[in-house]
Amino acid sequence: MEYIQEVRNQYENYPYPYRDPEDEKTRLIFTLDAFLEKINHFCYQGKQTFNNFRALVAGGGTGSAAIFLAEQLRHKKNAEIVYLDISRQSMDIAQKRAAIRGLKNITWIHNSILNLPDLDLGTFDYINCVGVLHHLEDYHAGLRALGSVLAENGSLGIMVYGKHARAPIYQMQSLMRLIHEDEPDMQKQVENTKIVLNCLPPSNLYKRCEQEWKSEIDEYGDIGLYDLFLHSQDHGFDVMELYDWIESCGFHLVEFIGPKFESKIGYDPKTFIGHPGLLKEIAHLPLPKQHAIGELMSGLIQRHSFYLSKNTGTKAQVDDLDNVPFFLRNPPHNLADTIAHNNGRKITIKSPDDISMQFQPGKFTGDIFRYLNGERTLKTIFNKVRKLRKTPQLSNQELLEDFRPIYTIFNDISWMLLRPSSVPMLKSLEELQEPINRRYSS
Ligand SMILES: C[S@@+](CC[C@H](N)C(=O)[O-])C[C@H]1O[C@@H](n2cnc3c(N)ncnc32)[C@H](O)[C@@H]1O
Repeated sequence: MEYIQEVRNQYENYPYPYRDPEDEKTRLIFTLDAFLEKINHFCYQGKQTFNNFRALVAGGGTGSAAIFLAEQLRHKKNAEIVYLDISRQSMDIAQKRAAIRGLKNITWIHNSILNLPDLDLGTFDYINCVGVLHHLEDYHAGLRALGSVLAENGSLGIMVYGKHARAPIYQMQSLMRLIHEDEPDMQKQVENTKIVLNCLPPSNLYKRCEQEWKSEIDEYGDIGLYDLFLHSQDHGFDVMELYDWIESCGFHLVEFIGPKFESKIGYDPKTFIGHPGLLKEIAHLPLPKQHAIGELMSGLIQRHSFYLSKNTGTKAQVDDLDNVPFFLRNPPHNLADTIAHNNGRKITIKSPDDISMQFQPGKFTGDIFRYLNGERTLKTIFNKVRKLRKTPQLSNQELLEDFRPIYTIFNDISWMLLRPSSVPMLKSLEELQEPINRRYSS
């Protein structure tokens, strides 16, 4: 098996992220890339039924993505998840979690991503590889190994670290490497790190933004601390390097899909620059450069999360009126009423991950949202608006141009998605967890 010994040692001793299998009895953890509706919208034009579907979770760790995918695919025909990791301890935790949930659709493999081309596993329709490739010495070889087992129309959900926003962490890692040149004992390294953290002067870069990172240590304890400050192999990407890497491995970047400013909006210079003249100049630059400007402006991109495909044109399109628009998780409460009673003023709402979003409703936006119920196609919604308004002459194009700017705002943060009406709505997180809660509640 091909892997870095220090990296394996870390994840055998400090399986990341910390999970207690008993917690499965009361809650389902979701991972942002692995909502099937989101994979479908961005990678399959919304048309995937997920029957006969094979997913690989590469570097599956303590199991969050594997469990979430397995729960969603539990009742699909011939759907399979393959979990792969070099850490037996991590796999053990993930297996216990799956056993508590009674999941039988995961195949467990203790091996390395780099060995994938030789493992004879067949091909996969979706590969999740979150927080792993930046821990390989050769991340080109890692991405190519994933590509070698990807089906022709398949897609990948990847997360790798961001170089700029993690600068304080990389300084701390350099500091701890100097201190630990002759200290192989991992627990001693952890204790030393705690001593150093307690005496950092206010001028230290990490100390200046400690609050941003503290949740990782509060939540995961020594496991989080080792992962942040003591990792032996940890590469942060800036956007330009990210694009070069992806393209040199034969992929297209479909979309950035992280939370808040790690979604598409955080890479868009328009989010930060209001000056029309400067924006016009920037708009002439190649897209990777525009996104690099967004990354450096925001300074908030700690992780790059994105979908990849070997093909272009994989996203569902709002211009296709046979598509059904729907919210993924918590639609805004009474949105149609808020729009209808706002007398043409701008509307501000909070996204599920707490971004404040402002938009200017058009003449028909309130009516469109009144009929948008996650089941109706755009064509049906528009017909209903025409009937309500008694304006048979109103064209689909006019109504679409009213809807498009607001759809774009929601879609840029993956909150509103599309699927054809032939593809049914999937179960919510609560519906997926409900039978497990019932099983363990008595
Ligand atoms: C930071 S954890 C992320 C775990 C999981 N993907 C998640 O998001 O919760 C990194 C995982 O990658 C695994 N890993 C590191 N190098 C690997 C390799 N060459 N092949 C397979 N897994 C690897 C580690 O054992 C560890 O479980």
